[in-house]
Amino acid sequence: MSLGSHFLDELRSRITLSEVIGRRVKVTRAGREFKACCPFHHEKTPSFTINDDKQFYHCFGCGAHGDVIKFVMEHDNLGFMDAIEMLAAEAGMQVPKQTPQERAKAREDRDLYELMDDACQYFEECLLKPLHADALNYLLGRGISRQTIKDFRIGFAPDDPQAMRKMLLEKGYSDAEMIKAAVLRPAKDGGKDPYSFFRDRVIFPVPDRRGRIVAFGGRILPEHMRPPQRSDFTPPKYMNSTETPLFHKGRMLYGEPTARRAAAEGRALILVEGYMDVIACVQAGIAGALAPMGTAVTEEQIITMWKMIPDFNKVPILCFDGDNAGRKAAGRVCERILPLLEPGKSVRFAFMPDGEDPDSLIKSSGVRGFKEVVSAAVSLFDFLWSSYTQGRSFDTPDEKASIKKQLENEIARISHRDVQEMYRAALRDRISRVFYPPRQYGREQYSAGRKGRRGGYDVTLRPPKPVRKGKDSLFSKVVLAGLINHPFIFDSVEEVISGVTFKALRLEQLRQSVCIHLGEGEDVSRESLVLQLENEGYSQEIRDICNESVYVHASFCSPSANEENILSKWLEYWNDYSTAGLEEEIHDGWKRAYMEASEQEEEKLRTLMSVKAGEG
Ligand code: UTP
Ligand code: MN
Repeated sequence: MSLGSHFLDELRSRITLSEVIGRRVKVTRAGREFKACCPFHHEKTPSFTINDDKQFYHCFGCGAHGDVIKFVMEHDNLGFMDAIEMLAAEAGMQVPKQTPQERAKAREDRDLYELMDDACQYFEECLLKPLHADALNYLLGRGISRQTIKDFRIGFAPDDPQAMRKMLLEKGYSDAEMIKAAVLRPAKDGGKDPYSFFRDRVIFPVPDRRGRIVAFGGRILPEHMRPPQRSDFTPPKYMNSTETPLFHKGRMLYGEPTARRAAAEGRALILVEGYMDVIACVQAGIAGALAPMGTAVTEEQIITMWKMIPDFNKVPILCFDGDNAGRKAAGRVCERILPLLEPGKSVRFAFMPDGEDPDSLIKSSGVRGFKEVVSAAVSLFDFLWSSYTQGRSFDTPDEKASIKKQLENEIARISHRDVQEMYRAALRDRISRVFYPPRQYGREQYSAGRKGRRGGYDVTLRPPKPVRKGKDSLFSKVVLAGLINHPFIFDSVEEVISGVTFKALRLEQLRQSVCIHLGEGEDVSRESLVLQLENEGYSQEIRDICNESVYVHASFCSPSANEENILSKWLEYWNDYSTAGLEEEIHDGWKRAYMEASEQEEEKLRTLMSVKAGEG
């Protein structure tokens, strides 16, 4: 659509640039101009200037430069027409429409938006009436604050099927309009009047990206609050408005206006399942939360999320239940996303602990608990890999070939050539590390650990045959417990811990995994590390290692140890029990024992180990 330059000039002149910016970032006057810390790059001293006379802003730090329209587009992350519409509304101007049809449609839509807003306001007022105190108490009882109720404009639709209709008729809306907006249903056969779509439900209004209400979701009160009238019929827990000229559920994301601003500020977008999850997240300060409208996420919604993220790397996080159904759902979404992938556009998958959704998780484990889960989200590639390998053995060439083929088929569905090629390369790499691990027997086994971080990936996937159990792994366990419970020591112990090979295969694999995660992540917390490791199948080992039976041998490795001493105690323990010579000897000895399968050698080593671990 082309707008006359006259209109744009008029719009710019009616709007004061510093006011528009001042509503979004803190500005201070500096002579004839205004100054602010630039919202487009990180800085502590302001180099962003605003000149109202010239109607432009300029940042001396990063070179950002433009007029009010560009500012709103960039800052609020809106398209040109959306920015214009928004500014025009602020300035009390009407965006000119080209054709009579467009003008008529715009008028009609405007009426519908107004109707929806009036309906929304009506629901909000109902929620606060003493008559509906039980609905309000229900929300407060679920931990939603009064402020959040206001922010999300949560309301209540009373039982009376005519109440809202009466109110809206008085305001001058017709039945036809109300039916079109889907707040009324047409009269049933035999009935004479149309009646409320939502009755006796808590109402969650659904705003579009610009904050206009376009639909409602209605949640039934729990049975103990409202005994069902008919025992043969269970009403659905949630109902959503049907499709209207304003509402297309496959396109809409609940929570979009807040999430859009959050994304513009560089915060992560997190797709959750439902209304309550978004509300709980935002209330807890996780502003990038949004949800599809009661269906699985659609292509359009994924693309919308990508558009919302101003960064080159657009990687929203999609949350799923941690159970089988959740993984299946993630698999279906994955199918849908592969053909859409482009450089800089992907997703990650986060899996909730058993039986939790984000809302309940925030309640039980706090924002931190939720963030741990989110930060353990896996990439699309890792998700693909694990969905084809988890729980499967690949001991035979046939199994290997089959898995390879299946993954290749998935990757073939990526339409972007470069992205597809990168996935193929990643697959080749993963396959060679996992299917042909250079560590089973012989010399390479010992260099794998020394080479360090890489090369340990596969450990997650192959349930290994334990080399041997028993007390002789105490040293490894203490060292690992110390590291897992206090990941902050990693930087100081990285060199030593990366340079050894534990003799119990499973502990050795765990050691490698721990080194990879701590080496790759920054400030990894105990919780997220444990979660990662559990996801990789180390739950049993972690239970074995992180418990009192290990802590009694070295109290510094217990999670409750005094932080100050942990590093020195850990190193002390390491030095006492792993003198270089002894370590070498053990390495070499085991190598020989493996190579020659000599029981004698093994026996000798066992004695050596127990001497080393102070148990002899
Ligand atoms: P859930 O049943 O998991 O509900 O549905 P929830 O969000 O945890 O709700 P609370 O915590 O019990 O209040 C998740 C989402 O699926 C859609 C809704 O969008 C809901 O938020 N849904 C669910 C429906 O559309 N209809 C239903 O009958 C149930
Ligand atoms: Mn819930």
